[in-house]
Amino acid sequence: NRKKTILDIQKMKAAGEKITVLTSYDYPFTRIMDDCGIDMILIGDSVGVVFSGYDNTLPVTVDEMVYHTRAVVRARPKALVIADMPFLSYQTDVRDARLNAGRLVKEGGAEAVKLEGGAHVADTIRAIVDMDIPVMAHIGLTPQSIHRMGGYKVQGKKEEQAQRLLDDAKAVEEAGAFAVTLEGIPLRLAERITAELSIPTIGIGAGPHCDGQVLVIHDILGLCEKYSPKFVKRYGDANALITSAVSSYIAEVKKGEFPDEGHSFS
Ligand code: KIV
Ligand code: NA
Repeated sequence: NRKKTILDIQKMKAAGEKITVLTSYDYPFTRIMDDCGIDMILIGDSVGVVFSGYDNTLPVTVDEMVYHTRAVVRARPKALVIADMPFLSYQTDVRDARLNAGRLVKEGGAEAVKLEGGAHVADTIRAIVDMDIPVMAHIGLTPQSIHRMGGYKVQGKKEEQAQRLLDDAKAVEEAGAFAVTLEGIPLRLAERITAELSIPTIGIGAGPHCDGQVLVIHDILGLCEKYSPKFVKRYGDANALITSAVSSYIAEVKKGEFPDEGHSFS
């Protein structure tokens, strides 16, 4: 069980083996999911919502992404570590994009970066790939575009929009992306894009035909109460677990049952 690289990930598409991805933002979650055998770990800018409590991902800074990436990397995961490029770290110009991608790798320890957008960020993707930093693209419902989209809405429902997303997918592959996240698009469109690309597609709210799947760890654990999109499946109830543990602690301390002699020094 050795360190996974982008080569391993790309081979999985050819072999028809599904690629599993989860977000992580810290050391303990990374240790646990890596021991489970997750293929890739994404330090998503979703950290801003599920960890920092912002309303959306726009306020997240490169410094915050570096901080969380370092925490993840300290767990020395076998999984490939990908860090999100946050809003305003790559949209201004290619030089900014290269510097900020470089920071995520150099200071954070990321092995790849992810950024949002299709054909219009192809030059940016190429520039980062040219400095030997692998890039995962992200098209469809791109949360950093919340104000343009007018909310988190499924993209590519109309044929014209679907064709544009297919073109975007081809453009990011052509630009050198090693994989592409497909978020919030109809399952038939995701199936079509997956069939037409040679790089792996990683779906979230994009149906069962993608080469891999990504979800936010807090969402699968039921730790994000704010909103729960249709595509999230809850695999555990960490909210109930934490509520029970914290309530028991409070009750035992109040009653004088904790700490007992067993947890004290004589
Ligand atoms: O920020 C994030 O967690 C993401 C994934 C949900 C794809 O971009
Ligand atoms: Na993201």
